[in-house]
Amino acid sequence: MSPVCFDTIIRGARVVTPAGVARCEIGISGGRIAALGLSLGEATEIIEAEGLIAMPGGIDSHVHISQPSGPGIEMADDFGSATRAAVAGGNTTVLPFCLPEDGQSLRVAVAEYHAKAAGNCHCDVSFHLIVKATDPVTLGQDLPALIAAGHTSFKVFMTYQGLALSDREILEVMSVAKEQGALVMVHAENEDAIEFLRDKAEREGQTDPLFHARTRPVPVEREATHRAITLAEIADVPLTIVHVSNGESLEEIRRSRARGAKVFAETCPQYITLTAADLDRAGFEGAKYVCSPPPRAASDWEAIWSGICNGDFELFSSDHCPFRFADPAGKDAPGARTSFRNIPNGIPGVETRLPILFSEGVSKGRISLERFAAITATNHARLYGLKTKGAIMVGMDADIVLWDPEMTREIRQDDLHHGSDYTPWEGFTVTGWPVRTILRGETVMHEGDVSGVPTGAHIARSAPEVLL
Ligand code: URP
Ligand code: ZN
Ligand code: ZN
Ligand code: ZN
Repeated sequence: MSPVCFDTIIRGARVVTPAGVARCEIGISGGRIAALGLSLGEATEIIEAEGLIAMPGGIDSHVHISQPSGPGIEMADDFGSATRAAVAGGNTTVLPFCLPEDGQSLRVAVAEYHAKAAGNCHCDVSFHLIVKATDPVTLGQDLPALIAAGHTSFKVFMTYQGLALSDREILEVMSVAKEQGALVMVHAENEDAIEFLRDKAEREGQTDPLFHARTRPVPVEREATHRAITLAEIADVPLTIVHVSNGESLEEIRRSRARGAKVFAETCPQYITLTAADLDRAGFEGAKYVCSPPPRAASDWEAIWSGICNGDFELFSSDHCPFRFADPAGKDAPGARTSFRNIPNGIPGVETRLPILFSEGVSKGRISLERFAAITATNHARLYGLKTKGAIMVGMDADIVLWDPEMTREIRQDDLHHGSDYTPWEGFTVTGWPVRTILRGETVMHEGDVSGVPTGAHIARSAPEVLL
């Protein structure tokens, strides 16, 4: 019998698997992980990874790409630039949202997103849906057909004019999710309260970017979190609360779990590194930090860290939602300076999510390598039905990122690959950096160079594990 010859062997790394961290080789064949062990033998390509850590490729299950963003406003990334940034930052799969234009059917919107993504992606992609209409065609026909085709999760909003659903509408959407086998995600902020506070601030001439944060205070999110969970309990469906920003909302989640609610929680880098004071930066620079929910107080960082460390958060995502700053189609658009209300919400972060968590979490000793892998990849795959992804295990897609845990770098806009003209983390120092990203067995990023050929594919998803 001739010895097995793999396509690729990764040699010398510490390998982070669901069973723990092991020093072993990874044998890759046909784009899948074919073997884990010592002295695996021969391969067409050997990747020497002494001193590096092999992790499952990052899965960022919360990104916005090429979304309609209002008149005169344009997102800074298309699928090419967003996924180039994603692989540069150690990711192998992203889950963007499909948001229909006003009046457009969800089915047509999904077809358009597929067309925009096809052939342009540097990592694998699968779409969550955004349900903003609850007419009989959307709920009775489009949504069931799209779920059956592998779009097994969707987001509803409790805020943003034109997107926010009433409690009744959210219950209608949840009941479709229950019947058809999909997972509901919710953006929890109380729209009426925000509108009240915004109108008041504007009447008082308080229109600077800081008032974006002041008019979306913690109780706005805490109340909506409680209400969303209550609705999910009434509809008897599991629920993901995305982008949890503060300790009081997390407390609502903890309380609901104690009474048996099936609730999953996501947080993001902005809620452990930025504060509302960033929105008060001079020269309108505060607009660069406008996102919803807004960054909170530094005291909230510790509450969020406690949830990251003890397992309350299953997911750490970026909520990458990129706009340019010095651009009339972006944050400094005409009108934005007249009121914070007109500043597009969102910040870029798909490229910096993993280095920030590695540095602040692993390098500073707050979390283990295993926990890092769980909340940046494995849990995303399980929760959202990516059956062959998210773990370094035999049979899984060979989606792997090699980390240099010793490399210290300053995050700088000039080095990033996204389409935005700034990063909120300019000058932020991190220790630990992804040096090679491998997508289904092929290197797509090495030492910052992203392959010119976009080999990412669309992935149809299975039912979320929690529904099985
Ligand atoms: O400000 C944000 N987060 N914009 C993106 C849309 C959303 O709510 O996730
Ligand atoms: Zn799709
Ligand atoms: Zn949201
Ligand atoms: Zn988002």
